[in-house]
Amino acid sequence: MRSIAAVSLALAFSGSVSAHGYLKYVDHKGIAYGLWEPFSDPYYNPLPLRYDRTIADNGPVVGMQSSNITCNNGGNNPANVGVIEVAAGDTLKLVWDQWGSSHSGPVMTYMAKCTPNCASFKGDTGSPWFKIDEFGYDATKNPPWGSDYLARQGAWWRVTIPPTIASGEYLLRHEILGLHVAHELNGAQFYPSCVHLKVTGTGSDSPSGVALPGAYDPNDKDGILISLYQINQGEKVYTAPGGPVWSKAAAPLQTTATATGSVYTATSLAPSVRGATTATTSATTAATTASTSRTTTLVTSTRTTTAASSTTTSRTTTPVTTTTSRTTTPATTTSRTTTGSTGGTVGAWGQCGGIGYTGATGCVSGYTCKVLNDYYSQCTPA
Ligand SMILES: *[C@@H]1O[C@H](CO)[C@@H](O)[C@H](O)[C@H]1NC(C)=O
Repeated sequence: MRSIAAVSLALAFSGSVSAHGYLKYVDHKGIAYGLWEPFSDPYYNPLPLRYDRTIADNGPVVGMQSSNITCNNGGNNPANVGVIEVAAGDTLKLVWDQWGSSHSGPVMTYMAKCTPNCASFKGDTGSPWFKIDEFGYDATKNPPWGSDYLARQGAWWRVTIPPTIASGEYLLRHEILGLHVAHELNGAQFYPSCVHLKVTGTGSDSPSGVALPGAYDPNDKDGILISLYQINQGEKVYTAPGGPVWSKAAAPLQTTATATGSVYTATSLAPSVRGATTATTSATTAATTASTSRTTTLVTSTRTTTAASSTTTSRTTTPVTTTTSRTTTPATTTSRTTTGSTGGTVGAWGQCGGIGYTGATGCVSGYTCKVLNDYYSQCTPA
């Protein structure tokens, strides 16, 4: 029973911080590479094959001077991670599980060459990183903050692998910085993910120069210790941390004046089973297989997660000491549970439903509550 209780706790917890998010897929040429699912993957044995480093939960890295800033709170373990093969100059779509519009801030993407390869490289010492893309605050855009633009276009972002970088393995570090409580020291909330890439091509550039940790200063009054309000009012110019985008990076892809897009649906999934030799399968088939035929085994784990909103609390999940078998039921596209709804009205682009969500479910005039995924429904223009 303790095992089941632990799972319920994990699920309840995931709902309680559902304003946060994590990177869920990298889409390369129509193939979705699944990334670490912090609320379900730890319970599988064997662990699924994922293409990024483990993250502890969907909450932020709070405090930017520890090595947790490098690749999120998850241990930055480089071993046993899948590698996505791409060519220099290729475009990637970086898909979040969700992103709430209350968490405004910049969207930044960095890379670092893995020396000698990504299976052993941590990137948390020296200055191996270089920035390949950034969208901070741009008053000519609607919405003007990068993360709000990301949310509005469907919780995804597109970047180009710099065309002239040397071939080899790289970490791609994609990050949202939530600034909604950044007026407090260490209130800035960082949401990084590190994806493993193998870049092919004939380029010879080897940029670097950014240290993570190191580049982010808690007292940076242009990018980190700031008031969203002042910037929104045009009283202050915003400069994202981490220095400028590398001069030979490709042009940004989020260029339309008004963010448009639609929620991403994976059509072909890359292998998610260790040792699998099969090519890609249809997402529907793969998802059904994953959720119906898999009997999972709970594994012993101790995790400390940080709930972040304006206040920060710490919670420790006790180790599961018994091993239980359970069969998960298939996820369907129609069952979504919003528990303990209070009725009421949510503003434009606010959350209005989803598993574990307990807030208001109505939308302001002109908006309707649209299901984005099982965990997130959003008030979108009617
Ligand atoms: C890094 O993250 C882990 C997991 O959330 C946490 O236990 C640890 O205290 C963090 N380390 C620092 C220095 O903040």
